[in-house]
Amino acid sequence: MIGGVALRVSSPVLVGRAAEAAQLWAAFERAQAGSPATVVVAGEAGVGKTRLVKELIAGVRAQGALALAGGCLNLGEGVVAYAPLVEALRSLGDAVDPAELERVLGGVRAELARLVPELGDPAGAGVQAAPGAGGLVPGRLFELLLGVLHRLAERGPLLLVVEDLHWADQSTRDLLGFLVRNLRASVALLLTYRSDELRRRHPLRPFLGELERSGRTERLELARLGRHELGELLAGIRGEPAPAALVGEILAGSEGNPFFAEELLAARVAGVGRSAELPEALRDLLLARVEALPQATHRLLQVAAIAGRRVVEAGSGAYAFRHALVQEAIYDDLLPVQRPPLHAAYARALAARIEGDAGAGAAELGRLPTTGTPRTTWAERCWPACRPGRLPRRPSHRPRRRGTTNGRWSCGSVRPKPPRAAQ
Ligand SMILES: Nc1ncnc2c1ncn2[C@@H]1O[C@H](COP(=O)(O)OP(=O)(O)O)[C@@H](O)[C@H]1O
Ligand SMILES: [Mg+2]
Repeated sequence: MIGGVALRVSSPVLVGRAAEAAQLWAAFERAQAGSPATVVVAGEAGVGKTRLVKELIAGVRAQGALALAGGCLNLGEGVVAYAPLVEALRSLGDAVDPAELERVLGGVRAELARLVPELGDPAGAGVQAAPGAGGLVPGRLFELLLGVLHRLAERGPLLLVVEDLHWADQSTRDLLGFLVRNLRASVALLLTYRSDELRRRHPLRPFLGELERSGRTERLELARLGRHELGELLAGIRGEPAPAALVGEILAGSEGNPFFAEELLAARVAGVGRSAELPEALRDLLLARVEALPQATHRLLQVAAIAGRRVVEAGSGAYAFRHALVQEAIYDDLLPVQRPPLHAAYARALAARIEGDAGAGAAELGRLPTTGTPRTTWAERCWPACRPGRLPRRPSHRPRRRGTTNGRWSCGSVRPKPPRAAQ
């Protein structure tokens, strides 16, 4: 710590999780030996699913093997079809050399480019399909992706990660179900979801039941950290051992949820809120840290929260909130009257980019669908809902479930969940 300012918010070392990491690694080794393996990692928001998965990805890549990862988007049913698979496949061109990529994609390159424009022929020999172009019926798409994964696995084991399944739309669930049933090669499929998000009748429930009945998946439930691990987490962040009193205080406030522990410590360091805040007040604590920032920065974060967890900015790449809970808390805190003009401005900016950059550039817009619904249609669909003076509508026609964060265009309340025991 320098001058009372924490140098980092997260611990550079993974704390605990030895058994969990070993379970994931064993699944990858099974894939390495030639059998497909699927692990479903469950845990509440902030408990460390992404962190654990990142460690596995790093380990797999350190071995020279291929790891592809994508996450489901918190946008509502049917808005972004196959988003995590599109995200995962985007990086394929960087991970595999051109000749190998040509072999893997084979004769399906042009078709696949409808889903993932980045995979189009670099020579652009007439096969650079417009993003979102129709014609790929699900059955064909599933077979095509299965073939690509199998060919990728011929060059060595492949780890495919799909995060945040609680936000998956039907198309993604269907595709993943198909892959679990049909993968035959050296592919380890790792799926994560927020277990505290699954209310009764959540569409992921039957899907998870199906996976379990298939006998082809194993489950890993991530628990909160204990006192000892929490002490290590705080020591990792502070760069020095944490006094027992501090560990006790943060443990009481976070109940062992690492994300909340990080936020409580950061709030304490910044002198906002009290680190012994009760879990129910964690949302306020998150907001207190944001509100302590200069006004312009605070405003920028509010605008960014409209876009979702990740924001793509013209020319300068992508930014992400460090955790979805931060974005959700900021979004939730916007007044209903503040949201429509911000949504409208964002939709306008996206539409302007689509119009000005209909080709490969539009593919940067990771939050737009690349198949199913053409991108321009997507923006148009959002546009009228977001005109100033009109309340935004939800993109989904399904009734809103209390407590879900599904309705990005809704004015309903979206709250991060406190640790389960506190509810
Ligand atoms: N075992 C751990 N060791 C160190 N830091 C952790 C651990 N688990 C989680 N964290 C930290 O806690 C925060 C929330 O973890 P994350 O993986 O994003 O949660 P989730 O994906 O379950 O919502 C991150 O900053 C992460 O680095
Ligand atoms: Mg996560």
